[in-house]
Amino acid sequence: MTTEVPVAAVVAMDENRVIGKAGTLPWNVPEDLAHFRALTKGHIVVMGRKTWESLPEKFRPLPGRTNVVVSRDIAKLRLPEGVVAASSPEEALSAAKALAKDGQRVWIIGGAELYRATLPFCAEVHLTIIDGCHDGDAWLPTFEGDFTQVSETRGERCSFRVYERAT
Ligand SMILES: NC(=O)c1ccc[n+]([C@@H]2O[C@H](COP(=O)([O-])OP(=O)(O)OC[C@H]3O[C@@H](n4cnc5c(N)ncnc54)[C@H](OP(=O)(O)O)[C@@H]3O)[C@@H](O)[C@H]2O)c1
Repeated sequence: MTTEVPVAAVVAMDENRVIGKAGTLPWNVPEDLAHFRALTKGHIVVMGRKTWESLPEKFRPLPGRTNVVVSRDIAKLRLPEGVVAASSPEEALSAAKALAKDGQRVWIIGGAELYRATLPFCAEVHLTIIDGCHDGDAWLPTFEGDFTQVSETRGERCSFRVYERAT
């Protein structure tokens, strides 16, 4: 019997829904990076080409995770061995699910364009709300209407929420 591999998004936004600026994160919040690592370690991560390029080279590919990168022109990508290229979000999701072993889930890790394309396929969203407002050029689309918030935990400089798709 095959069981469906869960697909979830993990994302940090500020109080204006900003998630990025000039190809990077607008803040440095170590507790959120630790949260991201704890959630995604040992799983499959799917990201847009721009997010891939935003990762510092020493963390690329994200260690301990199968990395899948989405681009419309995969011939141009120069990916290290073991990193999977996909030419659409749908292809990335089916490749990620096919690679998933027992207990592994697929995490959508951004950025804005990838969230927009894949939130309809997510059963859960793990949302960090960073305190305050920041300059930015990438925003998280609203998704809350299709989801129910099931938890909220307060950190020092942010809050961690979990949403599940409303049935
Ligand atoms: N706060 C957070 O949690 C968080 C998380 C991740 C990223 N970010 C930030 O978000 C920003 C990047 O977001 P972004 O929206 O500019 O870029 P992105 O979503 O990371 O990547 C966009 C690229 O992905 C590929 N792509 C997207 N949709 C596609 C489709 N339907 N079919 C095929 N390929 C597709 C294209 O690559 P090609 O151009 O190669 O075709 C596109 O240019 C950065 O500032 C980053 O730091 C924030």
